[in-house]
Amino acid sequence: MLRGRKVVLGVGGSVAAYKSAALARELVRRGCAVRTMLTAAAQHFVTPALFAALTGEAAATALFPVRQGDATPPPTDHVAWAAWAEAAVIAPATADLLGRMAGGLADDLLTTWLLAFPGPVVAAPAMNRHMWSHPAVQRNVARLRADGVRVLQPGFGALAAGEGEGWGRLPDAADVVSALEDVFAAGPPRPRPELPPPCPPLLRERAVVVTAGPTREPIDPVRFISNPSSGRMGYAFAEAARDMGGRVLLVSGPVALPPPAGVDVVSVTTALQMRDAVLAAAPTADLVVFAAAVADSRPAEPSATKLKKGQALEGTLSLVRNPDISAEVGAMGGRRVLVGFAAEAGAGVEEAERKLRAKGLQLVAFNDVREAGAGFGAETNRVVLVDRDGGREEIGPASKRAVAERILARAATLLP
Ligand code: CTP
Repeated sequence: MLRGRKVVLGVGGSVAAYKSAALARELVRRGCAVRTMLTAAAQHFVTPALFAALTGEAAATALFPVRQGDATPPPTDHVAWAAWAEAAVIAPATADLLGRMAGGLADDLLTTWLLAFPGPVVAAPAMNRHMWSHPAVQRNVARLRADGVRVLQPGFGALAAGEGEGWGRLPDAADVVSALEDVFAAGPPRPRPELPPPCPPLLRERAVVVTAGPTREPIDPVRFISNPSSGRMGYAFAEAARDMGGRVLLVSGPVALPPPAGVDVVSVTTALQMRDAVLAAAPTADLVVFAAAVADSRPAEPSATKLKKGQALEGTLSLVRNPDISAEVGAMGGRRVLVGFAAEAGAGVEEAERKLRAKGLQLVAFNDVREAGAGFGAETNRVVLVDRDGGREEIGPASKRAVAERILARAATLLP
């Protein structure tokens, strides 16, 4: 079963490292070609020369040259080794090594190689029994198993001098060999799922401003007028524009979403604050997307102190109109591309065409917020994108991210 198989043996820094020499020998006896990688800690217990002698193959320690003229083995090409190997055996897999593997770290040759290696991995843990039962180690083991790594159960028995008996012994070579046989019997591993194709860089170096979320219009220090916008659509625009190469400024009302990485965020509360932030950025913007649900009006005179029952709230709260931010930017003229939304509950797509002209926008995405999967807070959206020539494009139902990408791709075609 193992004859002719190419295996990389990764050796971690534990006193049990001496047993991995016997394991290397057993794998060779069964006909495997075995190359060894030793961590820095492993070399406190065993040497590359030992494994090179036992396996007749290279034993590697370094990702980078250490020092000119140093006697250590030359740096190893982890990509070439990843292409060579059919399976990996990590023995002993120490608590530290399991943690670094679970975290996807690549801070030495072995962990870098493991990330580059798409094939099956068997890990044989060895450590002190308290370390093995530590929740952090068990969490890492569970993570690795969920990722498809075969983490074996350590053996029970006498541990290193003075540690008494417990779970934590390196599994017997026979158990490691049989796990490896199982791996090969299972056939070639399923290829990792492909990541979605990257966005085309249609907005490379373009300055993009996105408004998102609701605004809050204070009545008094503890009350406000607002709406249930989650900000998801605007955040999806900001992330998609970033991934398309844009330099993105996100002007966000109060939302519960984390700020997207690689995007400048200005947090605002009221429509007037949102307007100030947008008007400051718009003159140098190439593209502005108005995805915020701006409150149309605000209390005329917010109270500086908390209103008591009966005061102003009932019947007498007077409101004034908020400025329309998109219309103000539309009135600035210039060649920037402006994209708005028309969130309607009942009106038809003609209403979107009316808003497009009235506000001086190039594209308006019409959506019916009463539709399931298209309104406030939903994960998905379905819109009709209307343009200045009377064109109508149906987009979705699809994730808000996919809808944003499609709209941005259209907007990119209108950029000067
Ligand atoms: N908008 C804005 N500033 C406002 C109100 C709306 O920038 N004060 C933007 C929204 O971000 C959206 C578009 O204008 O892109 C349309 O918003 P919507 O609420 O659908 O329409 P309104 O213009 O407010 O018109 P109405 O309430 O009459 O439907």
